[in-house]
Amino acid sequence: MIVRRETENGRRESRLEKEKRCGSGVVDLKNRTLYVENIPFIYDFFKKLLKVSGLYKRWYANALDVKIRHECWKFADLPAGFNGFRILQISDLHIDALPELSEIIPALMRQVDFELCVFTGDFRFEIHCTTQRIDDLLKPIITAANQAEFPAIGILGNHDYLEYTLENVADMGLKILFNESIELKRGNDKILITGLDDVHYYRTGRLFEQREFIAKAGYKLLLIHSPEYYREAALYGYDLYLCGHTHGGQLCLPGSIPVITNSRSPRKYNRGRWQYKKLKGYTSLGTGSSGIPLRWNCPPEIVVHHLERKK
Ligand SMILES: [Fe+2]
Repeated sequence: MIVRRETENGRRESRLEKEKRCGSGVVDLKNRTLYVENIPFIYDFFKKLLKVSGLYKRWYANALDVKIRHECWKFADLPAGFNGFRILQISDLHIDALPELSEIIPALMRQVDFELCVFTGDFRFEIHCTTQRIDDLLKPIITAANQAEFPAIGILGNHDYLEYTLENVADMGLKILFNESIELKRGNDKILITGLDDVHYYRTGRLFEQREFIAKAGYKLLLIHSPEYYREAALYGYDLYLCGHTHGGQLCLPGSIPVITNSRSPRKYNRGRWQYKKLKGYTSLGTGSSGIPLRWNCPPEIVVHHLERKK
């Protein structure tokens, strides 16, 4: 069961203000950053090119061919009650870009066992599509996620809208953590799970305000949309960092070499397993796809993380 919840809402206003002012902006002068992923004509140009080349159909089929991946992790400080705990990670659904996933993902989820399902952001893709459409597509996935022992948990990505996510997605039964931490309890044992807001585009995710609460915790799991906060997470003593955002590159060269990852982190943090000092991390290759919803040399995935206690 979930026993305690610490809330920090101080950054809610700044995210809302930035969503209104520059949602999906291309240039952030303050931070001297260019967001290539927010340039619409780039997608249109490549879409047309791929359709003419005949690759579009094949790569679209790749995007729907979601794999089940298993990752095992060993931790010395994992409480005995959580030995063997399984967390299913779904990331970057961008459900309106590939509506077929609304049926494909629940079917895959029924093939695996897990005690908790976490969604590491980017539920949607298009800014202007109706919320009703997103609701209808997300509902079967969230229902499947809540068949586990613990209620499913989600965080926001850079494609999400704060009010929509906190209201509609939460209403479907997903516990949204917005710069908040909760404790999961099994018997006398507990682990801390922190969900932070987006640090890639909105930059409104912070651990600082929760530092005292975090310092008292034992085993700690951090959910955050992108890998760019790994140094801070290590500093605060987190054990495991689950994120997504990069889609592993989505369209990769042979050898799974990403062309673009939309991340400020060094490449080794942008896909799959990684480690920074004592912090272990996993950057999902993404469950859905965005921009042009195609995949090449980078299969989409849902990931079962198996937590084990190191003897
Ligand atoms: Fe994404």
